[in-house]
Amino acid sequence: MSRSAHPAGPRYADVLPEGHYTAPPADLNALDAHVWSRTVTRDADGVITVGGLKATALAEEFGTPAYFLDEEDFRARCRAWRDAFGTEADVFYAGKAFLSRAIVRWIHEEDLNLDVCSSGELLTALDAGMPAERIALHGNNKSTEEITRAVEAGVGRIVVDSFQEIARVAHIAERLGKRQRVLIRVTVGVEAHTHEFIATAHEDQKFGLALGGGQAAEAVRRALKLDGLELLGIHSHIGSQIFDTSGFEVAAHRVVGLLRQIRDEHGVELPEIDLGGGLGIAYTSEDDPREPYEIATALREIVTRECRAAGLTVPRLSVEPGRAIVGPTAFTLYEVGTVKELPGLRTYVSVDGGMSDNIRTALYDAEYSVALASRASTAEPMLARVVGKHCESGDIVVRDAFLPADTAPGDLLAVPATGAYCRSMASNYNHALRPPVVAVKDGTARVIVRRETEEDLLRLDVG
Ligand code: LLP
Repeated sequence: MSRSAHPAGPRYADVLPEGHYTAPPADLNALDAHVWSRTVTRDADGVITVGGLKATALAEEFGTPAYFLDEEDFRARCRAWRDAFGTEADVFYAGKAFLSRAIVRWIHEEDLNLDVCSSGELLTALDAGMPAERIALHGNNKSTEEITRAVEAGVGRIVVDSFQEIARVAHIAERLGKRQRVLIRVTVGVEAHTHEFIATAHEDQKFGLALGGGQAAEAVRRALKLDGLELLGIHSHIGSQIFDTSGFEVAAHRVVGLLRQIRDEHGVELPEIDLGGGLGIAYTSEDDPREPYEIATALREIVTRECRAAGLTVPRLSVEPGRAIVGPTAFTLYEVGTVKELPGLRTYVSVDGGMSDNIRTALYDAEYSVALASRASTAEPMLARVVGKHCESGDIVVRDAFLPADTAPGDLLAVPATGAYCRSMASNYNHALRPPVVAVKDGTARVIVRRETEEDLLRLDVG
């Protein structure tokens, strides 16, 4: 499908595109444990509950739309990643997926490190008490202010992304009388997405320095010469929503090839490699992601094998999962406003949010699941499209879903797996007020990011 034309119109008018599931699930009230967070169930009244609290009560107290985040699930996922990688590797939670001060505290308490990619994320992390040495700063165009803030704070690593930045970080560190630990981000000619990866000969993208063509090797040469830098290792990130480790295998092979070249050329063995994030989650029952221990085992094996073959000491490994930690932990709760049947086609169910709280469907053609949350229903399945309230036809939350045919205004719908890249990519389009994030645990709910108010909107508009 062409990405060059704006697809907001006819693209969405087609009936189920090829490959989409066309059969309704056996039980519309069932909640697939792969897709929903750990403590989500449907109670005896048929109402979806999370952390022991009913969706109906949560909607009453916090309004809709709102994101409800299952704290127990979040912490359990942190522990699963930390335990899978053990003490010989580092897990950095990628804050871009979703960051707030509560999240930073949980990450810290669960003994993970944190990857930030902007001054704002760094500020949030430091403000919530994340030790600076456990923070990594990313970005392809970090400003002098961002680098200065990071070096002054004493961040554990900066992942440098260009020749200019190598010089910039070194200069700032020297001026501050420091030696900054850095990794060099390289592009390995692998692009991975879901079940496939593509190995490409050259890279045509803004991140990193290419391995092919020698830019990465030149970056290493420069970094090794600068007093302000301590070169820790090499960083690679190959894509998003990846289910398979074969792309990482190619990446590790190529990164280790660079480590060998560095040893041969400079006589140094760099102590670290970071293989980035991108591990997939289940948005629908069709998705079957790997568990953290399977990923950890596979990555360790790959890196060890490649290093042995190259005669190198196995470096310390780090990974940066964002989506795989926070994605499955939250659902968005909406209220149905209108239901419009298009005979022979489908039924449009409009909810009180949309592309301002979840841009992923419109932006990436992402697929989501949806369930009636405020009650169970024995009605027949109907083919539905859950849409928002914004002024464009591409404002789709769930493109194809089966909902009970008696779904009606006032019902609550829950869309699972919205913990990653939904609130963090939310906008004020049509002057929507961005929804709150409410953490739920053991029968208690607490707002961790409050809902925007009309005063917030007007305060930015200085008239
Ligand atoms: N590390 C680096 C260097 C990254 O660029 C990213 C994501 C991650 C880690 C975390 O990736 P994760 O494990 O969360 O997939 N907005 C898109 C995803 C963009 C990801 C950008 N980089 C989405 O909604 O799917």
